[in-house]
Amino acid sequence: MIAIKHLFMCLSAGGHPVTILNNISLEIPDKQMVAIVGPSGSGKSTLLGLIAGLDKPTSGAIVLDGVDITALAESEMARYRRQKIGYIFQSFHLIPTLTARENVAVPLELAGSPQADGRAAELLAAVGLRDRQDHYPVQLSGGEQQRVAVARAFACRPPILLADEPTGNLDSTTGRQVIDLLLALNRDQGSTLILVTHDQTLASHAERIVALRDGRIESDSCAHLFSPSSGAQG
Ligand SMILES: Nc1ncnc2c1ncn2[C@@H]1O[C@H](COP(=O)(O)OP(=O)(O)O)[C@@H](O)[C@H]1O
Ligand SMILES: [Mg+2]
Repeated sequence: MIAIKHLFMCLSAGGHPVTILNNISLEIPDKQMVAIVGPSGSGKSTLLGLIAGLDKPTSGAIVLDGVDITALAESEMARYRRQKIGYIFQSFHLIPTLTARENVAVPLELAGSPQADGRAAELLAAVGLRDRQDHYPVQLSGGEQQRVAVARAFACRPPILLADEPTGNLDSTTGRQVIDLLLALNRDQGSTLILVTHDQTLASHAERIVALRDGRIESDSCAHLFSPSSGAQG
């Protein structure tokens, strides 16, 4: 369970304070698939980055297995990211000087996996890229690059997968393939999947849809089940 409690993110833009996340509270049970939707600028990427431990909120907590990750020191935070989080970006973020297999092997090597290269090859086969292992990102199409990124995100079997508009740079057919792959791997592995998307069709595959607007939760299709206040008000 990921328990997000009263999360605020306030920054200063051009000398003016702006509240990017405004009192977000959300409980995400293990293995749930949640889509986060909302207009551009509503705070989706900021929220995902905080769950990933890439940044710290102004206030509030993100509690995972009883630990508030927002209170971790940087070295513990780095370990949290390595052990718990797989992250898929809109723009793939592959390392251009490494082949597909080497890109997938990076997190395995960081985790000290003895068979990093072999496991990377297996993962690439699983995403349909057996024949493209030795290709560099520039030699791959967008859809192929995103499949490499999906293989990389799953490499260490992280319990939490975060995907920020993973199909945003792909045409609809290719995007569909990437999503089918993401959902299939996620089903097999039983990880929690938090997917930020603009795409209504994509969001409709989720068990739960959380809509953000202006840094607040506008709606939550499971609010009646998970709202921390529902019991108290009942
Ligand atoms: N480092 C920053 N400094 C100032 N404003 C920021 C910063 N990062 C994001 N923002 C602003 O916060 C808002 C939410 O951004 P973001 O989380 O990227 O939204 P989304 O992913 O929903 O499009 C936007 O208005 C954006 O301009
Ligand atoms: Mg975004």
